[in-house]
Amino acid sequence: MWKLILLVVVTLTSAMELVDHTPLNNTTPHVYGFEIDYENNQFLLDGKPFRYVSGSFHYFRTPKVYWRDRLRKMRAAGLNAVSTYVEWSLHQPRPNVWRWDGEADIVEFLRIAQEEDLLVLLRPGPYICAERDLGGLPPWLMTLVPDIKMRTNDARYMGYVEVYFQQLLTRVEPLLRGNGGPIIMVQIENEYGSFPACDVKYREALRDIITRYVGNKALLYTTDGSGTSYLRCGVVAGAYATVDFGASANVTSSFGAMRKYQPNGPLVNSEYYTGWLTHWDEAFQRVSTAAFIKTLKAMLNLNASINLYMMYGGTNFGFTAGANGGENQYTPQITSYDYDAPLTEAGDPTDKYFALHDALAEYLPMPNLSLPTAAPKGNYGVVGLQPVTRLFDSQARRLAAKVGFHKTAPTFEQLDLPTGVVLYETELPAGLKDPAVLSADVADRALVYLDDYLVGTLSRTLKLKALSLQNPYAKRIQILVESQGHLNFGSVVQDWKGIFNAKVDGKPLKNWNVSSFPLDNLQPVGNFSVTSFTSGNQVNGPFILRASFKVEGPPLDTYLSTKEWGKGVAYVNGHNLGRYWPKTGPQVTLYVPGTWLKTGINELIVIEYEYVPAELRMVFQGVPNLGRSHMRVKND
Ligand SMILES: *[C@@H]1O[C@H](CO)[C@@H](O)[C@H](O)[C@H]1NC(C)=O
Ligand SMILES: *[C@@H]1O[C@H](CO)[C@@H](O)[C@H](O)[C@H]1NC(C)=O
Ligand SMILES: *[C@@H]1O[C@H](CO)[C@@H](O)[C@H](O)[C@H]1NC(C)=O
Ligand SMILES: *[C@@H]1O[C@H](CO)[C@@H](O)[C@H](O)[C@H]1NC(C)=O
Ligand SMILES: *[C@@H]1O[C@H](CO)[C@@H](O)[C@H](O)[C@H]1NC(C)=O
Repeated sequence: MWKLILLVVVTLTSAMELVDHTPLNNTTPHVYGFEIDYENNQFLLDGKPFRYVSGSFHYFRTPKVYWRDRLRKMRAAGLNAVSTYVEWSLHQPRPNVWRWDGEADIVEFLRIAQEEDLLVLLRPGPYICAERDLGGLPPWLMTLVPDIKMRTNDARYMGYVEVYFQQLLTRVEPLLRGNGGPIIMVQIENEYGSFPACDVKYREALRDIITRYVGNKALLYTTDGSGTSYLRCGVVAGAYATVDFGASANVTSSFGAMRKYQPNGPLVNSEYYTGWLTHWDEAFQRVSTAAFIKTLKAMLNLNASINLYMMYGGTNFGFTAGANGGENQYTPQITSYDYDAPLTEAGDPTDKYFALHDALAEYLPMPNLSLPTAAPKGNYGVVGLQPVTRLFDSQARRLAAKVGFHKTAPTFEQLDLPTGVVLYETELPAGLKDPAVLSADVADRALVYLDDYLVGTLSRTLKLKALSLQNPYAKRIQILVESQGHLNFGSVVQDWKGIFNAKVDGKPLKNWNVSSFPLDNLQPVGNFSVTSFTSGNQVNGPFILRASFKVEGPPLDTYLSTKEWGKGVAYVNGHNLGRYWPKTGPQVTLYVPGTWLKTGINELIVIEYEYVPAELRMVFQGVPNLGRSHMRVKND
């Protein structure tokens, strides 16, 4: 079988790639305490037959104080491992800034996993996809090296990768299984076979760097879509090749694809989808519990090891959500990463959770842990908001990280702004037609103002690139551009944000005043003097509003309903809850972790870009509203 495949490979690809197509085989040194028994197609843990049923839980999507709770609930369901990506951009937010504490304390997360009796599958990237901004890669790579070839063996990229891996892997090294820790597997790149570059040298270089720290103290692996076309560019010699597929897949043919590259050893589905991701402007995606359990059992019956993606999704707080798309398509993802997973965004068990528990009990030794119940939620009710100031007012300009003059419109990345919004302002050229026409490519969405009055919207998603200007008599044009998240998947990695080729009646717009607003966190804005305000469409620019609200007793998780509002960002006590956009949906409520609230007076701040309802109120309610839903995998 294997020889046959090798022959096919020889005819299809270069000899260089052939080397790459050697899977992990019997000659690979055994990993201390965790190894592959090729003869019997199984893993061995401390010499005994073993299979893992793991769950994905990304520490960066939930506040640290909840990590243990979620991990314990995973163990209580019968899972014996947890899988997490590591997000490079979280740990190295600036070229010279490293974060390993607080919410970025990955080492603590791994320690808690071990204490909660879970093994770990570590997915350090450098690219992770994960529906996160730029797939976890730091946008400053594009600032420092504009023509950088990310996800290839470009030496300028690999230099930064080396430093990141050195920083990360020296920290996690003591937690490898071979050093007495919980980490049994370490992934190389992420579904690299879906990326057109198909760079063998890159995969090998990553393997070699990771091997320097991991040695034979954990098993290296790759995972790819369950088709040979994906595996071809995903596997790397010395790493165990695995596949990904969901509840509607044909288990036999999906594992068949893995077998073409990994003829012996345990079957592994590294991402078995419990639910699915959701974009703005589509229904909330669900997978039926019955279909999920049925395919799970089919895999368990084959003795497969499985990682559930996601067991617990959490939230894309702030501006961390990414987008799917490519050259000509752009579909950003919602703030919630509930994913229709067995544990909800707030960590509560669902019917899917209990069905999973009951299914696993038929196959695995179960821990002596009581099953969780949903945690009580705060129903803090209606809060009235007071208008504070317009984002374009001079007093609000201090929220801008930078204000400057540029002959041509700079990208967000040139401004060293990873995300947020940028206001571009310039004079209109003389001698315009009536009507004049503005044309521009925007990434990703722009509100256009003439003489301080809103005249329309440009949208990358809707491919809206031109606007008729009914007011050619105006003097000044302002274009407020919002990043809706860097692409996290597809052939395009360099996803520049900003405004490109802006022209009016074919005349290029130049000489811009540019203000960049990170808006990642907002400190209290109470000392602004109040600007005059009218509800409805915010024709003179985004408005900042605030509210105080009281929490009696210990703070609980709650959901902020943005129903009837337009599009914006909400902050509680300085924490950015993420983007809201109920008009487009499906998500209507934002999850508010109780740990970000305090007993007594709390502060809500809202930056509303577009529309403020007549009643200046939002509601903290006890139940989430993720909008209309779509069952993408139904019961058979
Ligand atoms: C699943 O795939 C196998 C192997 O390709 C095939 O024999 C079988 O008919 C498929 N099953 C279904 C239900 O399509
Ligand atoms: C699963 O493992 C058991 C125990 O080792 C073995 O008896 C059985 O044949 C295996 N099943 C398959 C489908 O490999
Ligand atoms: C399970 O845990 C409970 C409570 O901690 C304990 O009372 C009981 O003895 C345990 N049962 C087993 C079989 O260990
Ligand atoms: C740009 O900024 C300068 C200096 O603050 C100001 O005088 C000018 O009016 C601004 N231009 C526009 C188009 O806003
Ligand atoms: C408001 O408070 C902030 C932080 O204390 C301060 O930096 C800023 O200058 C103040 N602004 C005004 C308008 O007083």
